[in-house]
Amino acid sequence: MAEVKRRDSWGSRLGIIMAVAGSAIGLGNFLRFPAKAAANGGGAFMIPYFISLFLLGIPLMWIEWTLGRYGGGFGHGTAPGIFHSLWQKNRFIKYFGVIGIFGPLVIFIYYLFIESWTLAYSFFALTGKYTALMDQNSLRGFLAGFQGLERNQYFNSIGTAYIFFLLTFLLNIWVIYYGIKGGIEKLCKLALPLLFIFGLVLIIRVMTLGTPDLNKPDWNVLAGFGFLWNPDFSALKSAKVWLEAAGQIFFTLSVGIGVILTYASYLKKADDVVLSGLTAAATNEVAEVIFGASIVIPAAFVFFGPVDIKSIAQSGVFNLSFVTMPLVLNKLPLSAIFGFLWFFLLFLAGITSSVSLAQPAVAFLEDEFNINRKRAVTIFGIVSFILCQPAVFFLGRGVVNELDFWGGTFFLVVFATIETVLFVWVFGMEQAWDEIHKGAQMSVPKAYKFIIKYITPLFLFIILGMWFIQEWLPIIMMKNVSGADKPFIFCTRLGLLFIFITLVVLVKIAWQRKKLRGIKQI
Ligand code: PFF
Repeated sequence: MAEVKRRDSWGSRLGIIMAVAGSAIGLGNFLRFPAKAAANGGGAFMIPYFISLFLLGIPLMWIEWTLGRYGGGFGHGTAPGIFHSLWQKNRFIKYFGVIGIFGPLVIFIYYLFIESWTLAYSFFALTGKYTALMDQNSLRGFLAGFQGLERNQYFNSIGTAYIFFLLTFLLNIWVIYYGIKGGIEKLCKLALPLLFIFGLVLIIRVMTLGTPDLNKPDWNVLAGFGFLWNPDFSALKSAKVWLEAAGQIFFTLSVGIGVILTYASYLKKADDVVLSGLTAAATNEVAEVIFGASIVIPAAFVFFGPVDIKSIAQSGVFNLSFVTMPLVLNKLPLSAIFGFLWFFLLFLAGITSSVSLAQPAVAFLEDEFNINRKRAVTIFGIVSFILCQPAVFFLGRGVVNELDFWGGTFFLVVFATIETVLFVWVFGMEQAWDEIHKGAQMSVPKAYKFIIKYITPLFLFIILGMWFIQEWLPIIMMKNVSGADKPFIFCTRLGLLFIFITLVVLVKIAWQRKKLRGIKQI
């Protein structure tokens, strides 16, 4: 007997679109994108970026929405169950699905800490804690002191950062505790419009910066946009630029990791996925290519010029946003208010993404272990709280970068490859095409039948292949890790392996229990 219990659901179509767009629009749009674009050939970066959007991002968006809705029909909201429903004869495929819980969990444990900095800085802006600092070094010291990387005149311990981490953690747990409709959907419907308003105000502020230093007439807003958009075509010859662009598309759209599978599993059978998926992706692209590109880079350019900005962009993802941006705003009137708008925008973008990262693990406990939501969220809260600690305390040892590599880069591509191959080659393209179009309010352009079947998987295999050839050995051997950090990175990897194995065992137990209770697995 197949048993499908009642699951949570979205309150409205707008609700799920907002939630998926909320997951997609995140720190990736405002911190990662401008830094990657500026560091990888400016406007030329946008060529592989848009190619990846059309050949990888949008197809995967449709694949995940469709697979999620399909799995939800069998009571499965996470990849182990969904993969099993797709290929019932294969006993092992459910274990590949573990990546769809593991990946989001890994991103969650470092993303949350970074998100908590944005909440802290919103508060600091309003209380004027950093608004008197007028040079890069002071603001850099302020950030390092706050992060607990050094003791200085601004902070003498990681205590303040920890309080904001706790607050952010509790806020996230609180939202997921109220479930899909009562928590996540409500949050996103409120946060997303607010985020767009804040973004617009900041763009207008940046556009009207003019030429603050009259001795340097070339340092103006238009030239700032030129810096980001003028193409350096030689960058296109570098495989790394292509990988970075494809990686950015995955990360920014939240595809290839299992999150959208879970969100879409709360749809009803006849709900449209084609137009909704496209709308969510388009909303994210507006937030990234227009908003993400129009705030930090032009603002920093006007004050620091083309040479310094490049070195700032290359010196780390966080420097542009947490050092340069507050510095620029400090030089302007109403710095407290604009500082707040900037950091609170980041916080809203962050929280609507982090709750989506938590949901697969919660859904897994609910769906496969029959645990009710409140207990599932409590278990998730305790476990993820413990897992967050190394990211908080060993940031300076490269732990966050390591987690970002595995959770936020490597497994994204692996998982995307598995789900694409399963969908088009195992489930079958004809059936897949029908499934995508159930309840659809627009049809997918015919060319996509070919793209999804051949180009998307081929592109994914090429990316994976290039990775293995170029980067596998140095990464495994920790070639770029300093001697002092090696033990930390090694322990992080062991920890990740432990989490992965635990999840594999949980999947095995879940399936065995259902078998014992005579529930036929679909
Ligand atoms: N898309 C988010 C961002 O751009 O910050 C990050 C993210 C959220 C990645 C959810 C992956 C994910 F599943």
